[in-house]
Amino acid sequence: MHSPTSQTIVVGSGLAGLTTTLQLISHNHKVTLIEKTSKLGGNSIKASSGINGVPTIYQNNDDTVEVFKDDTLKSGKGLCNLALVDELTSRSRDAIEWLTQDLKIDLSSVTQLGGHSFARTHKGAGKLPPGFAIVSTLVKRIEQIQESNPDILTILKSSRLSKILSENGKVNGVQYQNEITNDLKDEHGENVVLATGGFSADTQNLDTSLLKQYRPDLLQFPSSNGEQTTGDGQKVALRDVDAHLIQMDQIQVHPTGFIKLDNVESHWKFLCGELMRGIGGILLSPAGKRFVNELTTRDVVTDAVIKNCQVKQENEMSLPVGTYVSVLVVSGDDYPKAANHIDFYASQGLLQKGTVEDLLKLLQKINPENEKLNVGSLQQVLDDYGNDVKTKQDPLGRSVFGGAISSQFYFGLTTPVLHFAMGGIEVDSNARAINAQGKVIPNLYAVGEVSAGVHGANRLGGSSLLECVVFGKIVSQQILNS
Ligand code: FAD
Ligand code: SIN
Repeated sequence: MHSPTSQTIVVGSGLAGLTTTLQLISHNHKVTLIEKTSKLGGNSIKASSGINGVPTIYQNNDDTVEVFKDDTLKSGKGLCNLALVDELTSRSRDAIEWLTQDLKIDLSSVTQLGGHSFARTHKGAGKLPPGFAIVSTLVKRIEQIQESNPDILTILKSSRLSKILSENGKVNGVQYQNEITNDLKDEHGENVVLATGGFSADTQNLDTSLLKQYRPDLLQFPSSNGEQTTGDGQKVALRDVDAHLIQMDQIQVHPTGFIKLDNVESHWKFLCGELMRGIGGILLSPAGKRFVNELTTRDVVTDAVIKNCQVKQENEMSLPVGTYVSVLVVSGDDYPKAANHIDFYASQGLLQKGTVEDLLKLLQKINPENEKLNVGSLQQVLDDYGNDVKTKQDPLGRSVFGGAISSQFYFGLTTPVLHFAMGGIEVDSNARAINAQGKVIPNLYAVGEVSAGVHGANRLGGSSLLECVVFGKIVSQQILNS
């Protein structure tokens, strides 16, 4: 075991950084955790649908690691790093067991998300959303260890990584800036783990924006991410240690961010979790029609929204012409499967409960001159879907159904949002960062969304939290063994 005098610097306190920190300090390895905001948790604390794992005691199906691996590779369209996918999928059961058995987090409720062949995305059966349940438990456990052994961990909040330090080609620390006083300080350590997340909110400073550099066509979209998600780890690692950034143009646009009716133009959207479609929700275009298998992969659903759901004229909702909107409709029968999510969304004015007449009113506000849209035609669309539910045959190819949409249901307005960066720092299967010459950068690791390669062209829902846990554990083991 390491003497507590050697230390690792972990940068970023989302699930990747917290998993790494907890693993290391549990083994008496000293950590300094550096976080740029005033709160721990990053985007991870916002996670709404859950974490994948295969096979687990909570699944009631024939799922296997092989099928999970195939689904991941199919979704990644030839861009996945196979070695990383092997680690992700084969260690997924261990990740769920660590969270549920060691950390006692409830993840007993399992849903099937888009692009998955089986239900394998785990969340709790109670009130807490999965990201909050997982992050808050890790933070509590970390604080308990710190209380009994104060020297084992230093947490520096409001402290932004500004430089990676190295000597003779080996990384040996970081410089960080206090966000309040602007003071710069150096912190030295034997290893540095970057866990600074993605760059799906990197739209505010166009001089340095990675989105502008790699995907200027996406700057028009709002974001589901926290404002802190600006690709700092990628930028600093490229500048200071010549890290190899790969697949940077692979950005996931999630099809459903909620539009708040009193603030339709806000750049920051509350995510409408894929879980809502997983439990049975359907999507309607402004013309009041279904237009896609709502449970195919995210990239395909988003493309279909862009093709079928553009706002064509000025409207009562003040939705800008040219934006894309679809209406999520969830059967009242499916309410018990996600009661807490639905209650929360309803309390925020993002979902409403109503009838076909209420739904028609909303659609007419988006699409005022559509004469074909009336109660009869809209009811027919819902009845046709009810028939698909009964026969389990859907002309759009959906194979997993919830309830039919009967007299009372839930509905809300959604739009595509920047959600996840598949690209980032190239890593090997031990999460060691790779430089532009294809060589390991000694003592530098990248874990979670800051790293690249495991998801290829399109990440499956639920695999990001999983990636944070799996590679956070791998990195800690590497460091403890080194
Ligand atoms: P983050 O959780 O984003 O943490 C990165 C941390 O690094 C942040 O705290 C940030 O402030 C800090 N940081 C950044 N730059 C610096 C710097 N210069 N110095 C110091 N600190 C810095 N995935 C799933 O698998 N399942 C889900 O259900 C799910 N739901 C989601 C819902 C929402 C609304 C969003 C936005 C994402 C969701 N995702 C989900 C994706 C997933 O949450 C994230 O991709 C994942 O949590 C990333 O974890 P991370 O630890 O790599 O980064
Ligand atoms: C969601 O809840 O739709 C997000 C899940 C994810 O990004 O994995």
